[in-house]
Amino acid sequence: MPTPIEREAAALKRFGDRYETWGGDASRLIDLETRGADVGANGYTTMAQADDLADVLRLRPGVRLLDIGAGLGWPSLYLAEKTGCAVVVTDLPPGTVRGAARRANEPPLSERYSFAVASADRLPFRTASFDAIVHTDTL
Ligand SMILES: C[S@@+](CC[C@H](N)C(=O)[O-])C[C@H]1O[C@@H](n2cnc3c(N)ncnc32)[C@H](O)[C@@H]1O
Repeated sequence: MPTPIEREAAALKRFGDRYETWGGDASRLIDLETRGADVGANGYTTMAQADDLADVLRLRPGVRLLDIGAGLGWPSLYLAEKTGCAVVVTDLPPGTVRGAARRANEPPLSERYSFAVASADRLPFRTASFDAIVHTDTL
């Protein structure tokens, strides 16, 4: 009989594995139909809302953005491409972070991305490491 900790670890793995295979034809089609672009989203944040984030947070080259619970990197990978800011993409299951890294792994964009497996309640960063933070549809 698995312990609660083993059950939680198994759930985390299942969740991450699902994200790693996300991005197939169906999910790309949904992105294209609902947002007009293939952005790897798994939430309700629209392109217009992501564009608002870029304006409100004054994202531009030199700005360091943290995305918490990024899934496959929506909206931070899009924001980095659009504004030239640097991004650290974080999520809890390793599979999600691997999936985001795969999406971003095209130079020269990959030079402005880094990735960390991290829980929102215990982030492994020093104070003032970032200029801006986003978290969309992250509970
Ligand atoms: C609905 S998805 C949204 C993903 C992405 N931000 C988007 O809009 O497409 C919620 C994400 O929050 C992450 N998450 C849940 N609890 C978390 C926690 N404690 N720390 C970090 N990420 C967490 C999940 O793993 C999942 O990737």
